[in-house]
Formats: sequence, structure tokens, C-alpha cells
Amino acid sequence: MAQGGDAMGTIYLNGYFMPAEQAKIPVMDRGFLFGDGVYEVIPVFGGFCFRLAEHLERLDYSLREARITTSMSHAQWQQIFERLIELHGGGDQSLYLQITRGVCAEREQRFSPDGKPTIFAMSRPRGAARVLPDAVACITLEDIRWLRCDIKTTSLLGNVLMSQMAVEAGADEAILTRDGLVWEGASSNVFVVVGEVLYTAPKGRYILGGITRDLVVELARQNGVDCREQALPLHAVAGADEIWLSSSTRDLTPVTQLNGRPVGRGAPGPMLQSVWGWYRNFRQQLMR
Ligand code: PDD
Repeated sequence: MAQGGDAMGTIYLNGYFMPAEQAKIPVMDRGFLFGDGVYEVIPVFGGFCFRLAEHLERLDYSLREARITTSMSHAQWQQIFERLIELHGGGDQSLYLQITRGVCAEREQRFSPDGKPTIFAMSRPRGAARVLPDAVACITLEDIRWLRCDIKTTSLLGNVLMSQMAVEAGADEAILTRDGLVWEGASSNVFVVVGEVLYTAPKGRYILGGITRDLVVELARQNGVDCREQALPLHAVAGADEIWLSSSTRDLTPVTQLNGRPVGRGAPGPMLQSVWGWYRNFRQQLMR
């Protein structure tokens, strides 16, 4: 495998490690033409991929649903990630893996089932938050995406537009509704606390089944929290005691303002403090 240049900028492309600036993708790549691809974002803590098996299972699901085939095994993905982590000095990182349906001869939507996918991976530094991430403000928006949000696809125009609308409204994330119910964020899952009950939307075609989400549900239940996978009406969320976001990049982030109004008491709540403690301990144990 070829290698060279500044290790911080080393990426993986189709079997080779190379400096990012030397990496080239043909203009007829279907990822470029149609957003025809899938991806994963995997957090790395203390040099180890966090929940790797779960991320790779979700990758397999996305590939299967998108009907993209690769010959890569989980062990081969792991080898690529371990090399990237090492090249970037270990510690806390964020891995990005993207697989597109590859290059086509003509710009046609239909595809040949035996195409050769394009495989790209990179790593970026990240801080593993030792303290609870800062609270953020959110707005709510009607979800404008398609009906297969369970596939982690690189076709993210809907997410991109809604994220930008949030920023332009002075918020950090858009919380999305369909049929008056709250489902997820533009790039995160949403948890809502009403009294002693913790709610998050059920998995299905309206949300991406977050790996962080699944872990939070697991840890909450293990610790005796009444955690229900149920989408709440917007008015119930607006009147909730706590709202949090979860994702591989955000960890657990308190939402203390929704559509310009305070959530609960306008500060991170007690349920989040508990769950954050369990989540951080779980992570710490794996890093030992
Ligand atoms: N986004 N829902 C959406 C729409 C997301 O884009 C993400 C993550 C999540 C949370 O999933 P997880 O816990 O597995 O990270 C939910 C990633 C981080 C991104 O696109 O960068």
C-alpha cells in the first residue's frame, strides 16, 4: 500500500493510504453525481473504535438497503481504521467511512449490479468530552427528507438545508417533526424527559437508528429508568422537563432552549446528569 506525506492528512482511498491532497475521485463517480452512497461516523476513544461491531452492522444494513456490494469483511474495515488511527497518533478521533456505488460510464440513474464501489475513509481529531457538552438551542422544523431515513446515505440535501436553517435562526440543531410528532434531529437523535419517563422515537423509516441512541436506551433501562421508544407530539416536547440530543459527534448534548423558549428550568436536568454518568463510565471501562 502506498503511503506518504503528512500523516495528519492521510486518507484511505480504494486500497491505498495517501495524502488527502493527492486523492482524486472521477467526476463520473455516482457519489458525486447522485449522492449515491452510504457512510458511517465512528468515534474513537483512547485509540479504540467505540461500538465498532454496532457501527459495522449498521453499515452492512445501509449497504444492503442501498444495494451496494463490497467484498470487505469486518476484519478488513477494522484494519483500515486501526491504520488510520495509528497514522493520526491514537487518542480521541472521529473516523469517517464513505462507500459510493462507484464510477459509471453514462449519467444514468439505473445502475449495473456489478459495479465497483468507491471506498474512502479519513480521520479527524475530536475531544472525548470529560464533562457534559455545552447546552444548545434548537428549533423545530417539518422534516423535508425522504422516507428511508434509516439508511445512512450520503444524500443529505434535506439534512443540510434544515441544519442551515437552524443556524440561520440562531440555533444549533433542527428537531424534526412529521405528522405533528417529534422524530429526530437533522444530525442527531432526540431524547425527551417528561416527569420520570424518558422518551425517544422508535426505530423505523423516519429516523436513523443512532448507535449512541441505542446505548443510551440500553444504559437507561439497565439502571431502572422507564425508557419508552415512542414519538411524542410537538406540544408535549415543547412542555417537556428535559430534551437532549445524541450522536457520535455530540455525545449527549442538553437542549435548554426550543424555538426561543426555555426547556424545563432552562438548564441541563437531573435525568441527563445520571445518564451522562453511566455513559461516561461505560466508555471509560472500555478504554481501560
Ligand atoms: N450523524 N440521526 C441523524 C439524522 C444523524 O445524522 C445522526 C448522526 C444520528 C445519530 O447517530 P449516531 O449516534 O450513530 O452518531 C441520528 C453523524 C454523526 C453525521 O452525519 O455526522
